[in-house]
Amino acid sequence: MTSSPSPADLYCVMGNPVAHSRSPAIHARFAELTGQRLRYERRLIELDGFVQGVRDFTAEGGLGCNITVPFKFEAPAMATVCSDRVRLAGAANVLSFQPDGSIHADNTDGLGLVADITRNADVALQGARVLLVGAGGAAAGVLGPLLEAGAAHVTVANRTVAKAEALVASHSALAALQKAELLALSPQAVEADFDIIINATASSLAGAGVPVPASVLRPGSLAYDMMYGPAAQGFMDWASAHGAVARDGLGMLVEQAAEAFALWRGVRPPSAQVLEEMRQSAS
Ligand code: ATR
Repeated sequence: MTSSPSPADLYCVMGNPVAHSRSPAIHARFAELTGQRLRYERRLIELDGFVQGVRDFTAEGGLGCNITVPFKFEAPAMATVCSDRVRLAGAANVLSFQPDGSIHADNTDGLGLVADITRNADVALQGARVLLVGAGGAAAGVLGPLLEAGAAHVTVANRTVAKAEALVASHSALAALQKAELLALSPQAVEADFDIIINATASSLAGAGVPVPASVLRPGSLAYDMMYGPAAQGFMDWASAHGAVARDGLGMLVEQAAEAFALWRGVRPPSAQVLEEMRQSAS
């Protein structure tokens, strides 16, 4: 008697909108390259339906999901166990459903950014002076990992300064532990230049241009937009015009996925190869 093959392990990305998500393609390629047998789907979740969406997915036997806009802040409340990174960021982008029914939440966005800067772009964070522009969810997800990666100084600059101050306050203990200097400023008040400038604002989506003066750049600075594709182009053109090295967030996307894949499967995928393939197919 022949038995039918067991279904492949099930994962997904949940968001709204989610049609644009490149996570299914990235995870499918990781699975192919590591010989892991899994299915990775896209799930469009009603805006008020996140809790039900997670329940439905686990009832289907789902083993893990990535969480994207706008549910990253709701995700920690679904978890039995939150990593330190989730507690610091107040947001999660990875849920893992354990055999005992518990749910583990993690946030791999900052790890992805750090991996892309240090490994793929080959720029040191250890001892670096970093300007983080923005203080919303995207910035909150990466500040802890930037400090843990050894940045010597981080200025958080945001249009609404009170939000930058709140982010700095919630990270002050970590900064002290890391012996890093951490400041909150309004974008107009930033006077120094920096080794690394990270755009974590939505200003390009709002068509509002670059939210900091060009004096933050110097030749050879790394200017990094956490977005990719057309949304990152304005910032990257501005940075290149001022002699900085411009980089978009495609590598961060691939590396945060690689961290999630490693958490779920216990296998590290060849993320640099997959990033290179994605850049080739886009050009
Ligand atoms: P995300 O999760 O993408 O970070 P968010 O939490 O809404 O989204 O945060 C958006 C960020 O982009 C904030 O830092 C926001 O600045 P405010 O806190 O002052 O709102 C920033 N942002 C959005 N539009 C902007 C603009 N036109 N100029 C400058 N900053 C802008």
